[in-house]
Amino acid sequence: MTKHIPPYNINRILCFIYLSLVLPLLSNAVDPSPLQDFCVADLNSTININGFPCKNSFDVTSEDFFYDGFKERPGEFNIFDVNVTQADVRQFPGLNTLGLSMNRVVLKPGGLNPPHVHPRASELSRVADGKLLAGWVTTGNVFYWKILTSGDLFVIPPGLVHFQLNIGEKRARFFASFNSQNPGLQIVSTALFNSTPPILDEVLSKAFQVNHSIVELIRSGFAPALLKSSY
Ligand SMILES: *[C@@H]1O[C@H](CO)[C@@H](O)[C@H](O)[C@H]1NC(C)=O
Ligand SMILES: *[C@@H]1O[C@H](CO)[C@@H](O)[C@H](O)[C@H]1NC(C)=O
Ligand SMILES: *[C@@H]1O[C@H](CO)[C@@H](O)[C@H](O)[C@H]1NC(C)=O
Repeated sequence: MTKHIPPYNINRILCFIYLSLVLPLLSNAVDPSPLQDFCVADLNSTININGFPCKNSFDVTSEDFFYDGFKERPGEFNIFDVNVTQADVRQFPGLNTLGLSMNRVVLKPGGLNPPHVHPRASELSRVADGKLLAGWVTTGNVFYWKILTSGDLFVIPPGLVHFQLNIGEKRARFFASFNSQNPGLQIVSTALFNSTPPILDEVLSKAFQVNHSIVELIRSGFAPALLKSSY
């Protein structure tokens, strides 16, 4: 004889299944889902919201869903011998509300994409040229790393400190995709030693367990200021 489950229990079971399916989705969400087909960013708007307001859809053209900045040769290389060309919502307004963006990173031999985080995104990179050592550190200070060559993919979980070092003899180039229209970029060394105004020496001296002269020595390496453009 089969045992009938009382309706009260069925509701509880359905509720449990629903919550176990939906709650992880909510807690893992990075950028919110779009509420319409598209919302091309109106970067000129003076309205301040989370993201950007939509350009009038009558004014939207195919050009809004197109970006060719990666065809340009990399311009300036910074003090780390790396050039990053960003294609996030600020350069590519069609990405607004779609939860995606991409960077092209070119490194000279020995160039370093220095330890940094993207506070709002996971990263999936594909190496196009060269040989890189890429690594990241967990919240428990475990270091995972890999040597990558052309065609390899490497994934970095959201918000964790990571870097890429060119260990080849030629330029290296990779494309990093993000699950955010605006992943954000915070370089650990410049955030701590090149902030405006500067962080107190007492803080850095204690944090790094070195005296004030060493803090000043590290600070001096970053002048003049670089990379103040993120938001
Ligand atoms: C913002 O304004 C400039 C100058 O008026 C114009 O060239 C540009 O297309 C505008 N951008 C958008 C996204 O509407
Ligand atoms: C890297 O090169 C691009 C041109 O592709 C340029 O727009 C960008 O400003 C350069 N990045 C840096 C950090 O200089
Ligand atoms: C700071 O520490 C360095 C390295 O330990 C040492 O050589 C230097 O003399 C110290 N400076 C001062 C002012 O204590």
